[in-house]
Amino acid sequence: MTDYQEMEDRGSMGILPKRDVVIVRGRGTRLWDSDGKEYIDCIGGIGTANIGHCHPAVAEAVARQAQRLVICPDTFYNDRRAELAAALTRAAPQGLDRLFLCNSGTEAVEAALKFARVATGRPGVIAAQRGFHGRTFGALSATWNPKYRAPFEPLVPGFTHVKYNDASAMEESIDDGTAAVILEVVQGEGGVRIGDGEYLRRVETLCRERGALFVVDEVQTGFGRTGALFACQHHDLRPDILCLAKAVAGGLPAGAVLCADTVRDIPAMSHGNTFGGSPVICAAALATLRVLEEEGLVDNAREQGAYFRERLLALHAPVVREVRGIGLIIGVELKGRVTPVLRGLMERGVMALPAGNTVLRFLPPLSITREEIDQVVETVDAVLGSLEESLPVHRNRSDRSDQTDRKDRADRNAVNTNSAGPGQVEAREAE
Ligand SMILES: Cc1ncc(COP(=O)(O)O)c(C=O)c1O
Repeated sequence: MTDYQEMEDRGSMGILPKRDVVIVRGRGTRLWDSDGKEYIDCIGGIGTANIGHCHPAVAEAVARQAQRLVICPDTFYNDRRAELAAALTRAAPQGLDRLFLCNSGTEAVEAALKFARVATGRPGVIAAQRGFHGRTFGALSATWNPKYRAPFEPLVPGFTHVKYNDASAMEESIDDGTAAVILEVVQGEGGVRIGDGEYLRRVETLCRERGALFVVDEVQTGFGRTGALFACQHHDLRPDILCLAKAVAGGLPAGAVLCADTVRDIPAMSHGNTFGGSPVICAAALATLRVLEEEGLVDNAREQGAYFRERLLALHAPVVREVRGIGLIIGVELKGRVTPVLRGLMERGVMALPAGNTVLRFLPPLSITREEIDQVVETVDAVLGSLEESLPVHRNRSDRSDQTDRKDRADRNAVNTNSAGPGQVEAREAE
């Protein structure tokens, strides 16, 4: 253990388990540790480094702005903030023409939930099983996984979780007490599960018909990750509220909430934050948008993502249950635990991350090249091959689909996850 590891362990809460490595430098798709070892980074700061680590355009924009004006309260106008509002509303799906700025994904979701309650005068929020929306109390109440929720209950009342990609479950749940339905277009933390376009459009229509707001959480899928600037553009969705964060400012902390004109009458001073929309962050976000466009990174995500998935599928590895993904958010569902695979990859110079216990997830910078993907896939092949004997297989495919069918039937009606429900049983099994 290095001095840095000891220092950090001694001085931190130790809530998140750490990998046995000290990362000290990043550039583009690469990271380096304190011993000088180089890695291809398929974690990308958990989906924040879409334009690559330490992009010179962001570094320069931040340095220039930091010498001019770092902070400017939201109660004043500011040149950089005005430019970002214009740029983001121009880039966003049609109708999302007003912007609220904050500092993270959970804050973006928190704002969306508060806006929806005020704008509709209704209390209820419907979210999806396996959905992830953050860890502050409001966002956590929309998050499904009992592992994150249980230690902090009771959560905010009025939240219900229904099966994802099941329009009839949604149809039965949205009523005149529903302020908002919040969904991801791709469930990232929930295992890289791709939303069906017809389902998402149906939910949007149901919201419109029944007076609820349609909130799309693109904290993980925004800014080119899926091969469109925003994933909702694949399906021509028109959300009332779009939540963004992670990649918005080239890796610096930022969150953004884009709103349609259905989000109105938010009382003056009823919501806000100190740092959101600071000039330095706005300068970084403006540079990030420019880089995404100038370097064609959204197209690259689409093309390289297709190639990456093709190559993973061609492995035909016996321990792989399924390869899922769109653009450069890719999940490989394994028949056993993902932890030894992550460790093996890291030892061989590839960083990847989990999505749950059995899904290997790749969120590389969108500038990743074919050659780098070849190197990553060859490393995955070598690691899976070396672990084939030892990977503890959870259950075989037929056991799993029987169980899923039983669960699907049980879950057809909305499950209020504020009390123990079938969802919690499955999560415990997955542990
Ligand atoms: C879809 C989604 N929403 C919200 C969040 C919370 O974002 P943050 O960690 O910035 O609070 C995440 C984080 O992974 C996410 O993936």
